[in-house]
Amino acid sequence: MSIFFNEETRSFRLDAKDTTYMIQILGQEGILLHAYWGKRLPDPAALYPVGPYPAPENLERERVTIMDIMPQEYPTEDIGDFRESAFSVLTEGGHEAAALVYRSHTITKGKPRLAGLPATFGSDDDCETLEILTEDPLLGICAKLRYTVFEDLDVITRSVEFSNEGTSPVRLTRALSACVDFDRDDLDMVTLYGGWARENNAQRVPVHHGKQSVESARGESSNAYNPFMALMARDASEDHGTVYGFSFVYSGNFTASAQLDQYGHIRALMGISPQHFGWKLEPGASFQAPEVVLVHSDAGLGKMTRTFHDLYRNHLIRGKYAHALRPVLINNWEATYFDFNTDKLLEIARLAADQGIELFVMDDGWFGARRSDNAGLGDWYVCEDVLPGGLKPLVDGINKLGMKFGIWIEPEMVNEDSDLFRAHPDYAIQIPDRRRGLKRNQLVLDFSRKEVVDYVYGMISKVLASANVEYVKWDMNRTLTNLGSFALPADQQQELEHRYMLGVYDMQDRLTTDFPNILLENCSSGGARFDPGMLYYSPQIWTSDNTDAIARLKIQAGTALAYPLSAIDANVSIVPNHQTGRVTPFATRGHVAMCGTFGYQLDITKLSEEELAMIPQQVEDYHKYNPLVTTGDYYRLHDIFARDTGTAG
Ligand code: DGJ
Repeated sequence: MSIFFNEETRSFRLDAKDTTYMIQILGQEGILLHAYWGKRLPDPAALYPVGPYPAPENLERERVTIMDIMPQEYPTEDIGDFRESAFSVLTEGGHEAAALVYRSHTITKGKPRLAGLPATFGSDDDCETLEILTEDPLLGICAKLRYTVFEDLDVITRSVEFSNEGTSPVRLTRALSACVDFDRDDLDMVTLYGGWARENNAQRVPVHHGKQSVESARGESSNAYNPFMALMARDASEDHGTVYGFSFVYSGNFTASAQLDQYGHIRALMGISPQHFGWKLEPGASFQAPEVVLVHSDAGLGKMTRTFHDLYRNHLIRGKYAHALRPVLINNWEATYFDFNTDKLLEIARLAADQGIELFVMDDGWFGARRSDNAGLGDWYVCEDVLPGGLKPLVDGINKLGMKFGIWIEPEMVNEDSDLFRAHPDYAIQIPDRRRGLKRNQLVLDFSRKEVVDYVYGMISKVLASANVEYVKWDMNRTLTNLGSFALPADQQQELEHRYMLGVYDMQDRLTTDFPNILLENCSSGGARFDPGMLYYSPQIWTSDNTDAIARLKIQAGTALAYPLSAIDANVSIVPNHQTGRVTPFATRGHVAMCGTFGYQLDITKLSEEELAMIPQQVEDYHKYNPLVTTGDYYRLHDIFARDTGTAG
């Protein structure tokens, strides 16, 4: 048993491996206070009440003052707590105030799934779940605060489900997933920042008075900031001291913030970004906010990393390849870009197979009028000019070589120059009469609409079923702007980006359910959607379009701060490198790529004899060392925060 409720003090105690988390119910009214999160407390019966509590008579007199000082478990707007809140509404009367108070709770074995959303999972033996039902009786809104304790890891997950039990619709304007109020002012904030081809640089800065945050309002978790944050004690280091890790199991807009207030307390928040967000909750309807993973480490950043790795390897990543050695792949993107046909691909595959490479991946350019990145997205049928006779002759040819076959898709996108857009211009996200904003000459399809997801999935699943496809690279190459859906009424347009994410998850769920033997890899212009939400559907993610070995050292190390090496796709590419122009030895490129899932992205027919001869040994080394790389305990020997040494990235 790991979750206890003490009737006398009306407090909850959650015990993970070396961690305790506590919540206190204040007074008959039932205000929920955050009481403790830290090193495991020695005696399970011990209680650490928040104190000193205001006496009930003082609570009434100084309610507003007290709300701003006390550590809240799930703070709401406009009732006296002027720190950033986790929850706010707009009622039909135009009011924002909300006060969620305790009603009841349940403690159960295991972990319930979150409807339509990715989330960590665990069996009845692994975990226990506490659900605290809170209510604002005036609004008729209930919020179920859900906590799952993983007993053998220092992990507690949190999520919130809202329901409208009242008689009028209520607009949610802020519905974050977790808040932690720390009774201290000496924490540093660690985040991952970057951009295209320079993803996941680690930054450590003191939490200062005021509010600081990383966020995305791009419709994807993004390469600007990763949906991850750690708060480290000022004296904590790689292998010493207290670290609190926060990771958001979601692939869309997010916020992760820390605020040092006037009383010297730090509030941490994580959830869907309130920017662009609004949700009309009709009577009887519910809204599920995504999951936040909380990791506590009493032994520095390294232990936090290892806990995230263990959790994500064993309780997030699923499917046939979750724990299996991934095939060594060769991808034709940097080899040919759009300039290929069946013969060219088979020429590469033949030589690759001779060296022991196990999977051939055909990248962008095989469908519709896709001869460049100006046309064809949305038309998911094989272009006969590129692949005469369709997919099957190519796939059969590849399989005859003893290799698996994989294919690239970008389901969420459409070019204006495509049959799909000509037939259904309303399927693209846009605002009527407003100039459409293009990126890579493409628009985003409105995946908030089931008929759009059905339409695209119908086309793509037909292609996947037409040949022996064993790997799919799902790409996503632009941010969301001009947020308008032709299917949503005016008062629900702000639901578009979350509904879009639910549509993406729905299609990834269908694909992985209907084709359980396919190894799905996510990608977003490299690593713009490298997040736990995507890992729930795909065991590996393309980490960066920057394939330069030296730049990759930094990108992969940053990514490994929160994500296991088994998720980090890394390839050997040609030199001079296409992104940086740098020349590195073939062996170096191999070693760096072996620190993840391994493959090649080059025209193998253009390698020197010496380079070609190294491939069989690299494949053998990968087979030998990858189990250690992907299941081992990761100890950083370098300073993750060291400034750039002049490398690209
Ligand atoms: C962006 C991806 O990150 C690349 O690997 C490649 O698949 C291109 N898209 C294809 O358009």
